[in-house]
Amino acid sequence: MMATMSGSGGYSGAVRCVAVAPAWHVPDLVEDARAGLLEPPRSLPPKYFYDAHGAALFDRICATPEYYPTRTEDTLLRQYGDEIIALTRPDCLIELGSGSSKKTKNLFDACERQGHFCVYAPFDICEPVLVEAAGKLQADYPWLNVRPLLGDYHAGLANMPHYPGARLFMFLGGTIGNFTPPEVRAFIGDIRRRMQRGDFLLLGADRIKDNDVLHAAYNDAQGITAEFNLNVLQVLNRELEADFRADKFAHLAVYNNELHRIEMYLVSGLRQEITLGRLDLRIQLARGEQILTELSYKFDHDELETLLEEFGLGVIRHFEPDNHYFSLVLAQSG
Ligand code: AVJ
Repeated sequence: MMATMSGSGGYSGAVRCVAVAPAWHVPDLVEDARAGLLEPPRSLPPKYFYDAHGAALFDRICATPEYYPTRTEDTLLRQYGDEIIALTRPDCLIELGSGSSKKTKNLFDACERQGHFCVYAPFDICEPVLVEAAGKLQADYPWLNVRPLLGDYHAGLANMPHYPGARLFMFLGGTIGNFTPPEVRAFIGDIRRRMQRGDFLLLGADRIKDNDVLHAAYNDAQGITAEFNLNVLQVLNRELEADFRADKFAHLAVYNNELHRIEMYLVSGLRQEITLGRLDLRIQLARGEQILTELSYKFDHDELETLLEEFGLGVIRHFEPDNHYFSLVLAQSG
């Protein structure tokens, strides 16, 4: 097993993180910028949104009236938490891309009500966020055995520690929408390979719905999503010694009705030249030129079930609110 202990950096009484090595090369920002930014159509992976400021902006997006996914999923987890725990009785909950672990607390509350003790292995790339979330959870749920995993949750799947007993894998928040269809299949397949017969997967996914509702969710009136999108330019400035100016770009988020996905771009307001110091390069952006910063796919009810069943994951429960805005699918490996 490729896992080493690492200190948890200053958080007193904090749980220790296990660093999980990636099973393949994971490109860094320099490589991703070389691959995506040098010529049109330009793009950047959405994971670079989440520096400390970006993560705080994302939390503020979740609090806007327009952005329904997080609160909808949270409500489903609160409403069906008891049923999920009673059905799965997990010895270990493994959460891929756990972030702040806030919504997952609903499941620990259900465990507590049922006197069901377990291990929680939150898996995330961002050490400060992981350590803080783990420390808080450990304080709030002293019976919970918190074992944070630090690394790339996809590339690290194969090198994760083994947890004995019944496992519940979780991939929440609708992050599955950030993957293209082939990437989704590669990812579900890799999770499936880590599962033993009887293990469960709980998947959260955003649904296809009224275009105006989707559009509003990515164009909130307070402009927080715009700020979140533009913040990636500060990440580039800092990490790549670049000189992007946020006031020279505009936020654009459109729903692509054919491909069932939100496409988020930064649009250059004028013809401009950008220096990328760490790449030792300058790039020219035309007026109106777009940098694709995120794809967020929306799913159909049956499509989600078919997808899981393709991988031998039988759907046990498919939770959704009355308005069908979001899906929480519980599947079991056969
Ligand atoms: C965290 C990937 C689920 O796609 O809705 C929110 C990120 N981007 N507003 C999403 C996001 C713009 C979010 N995910």
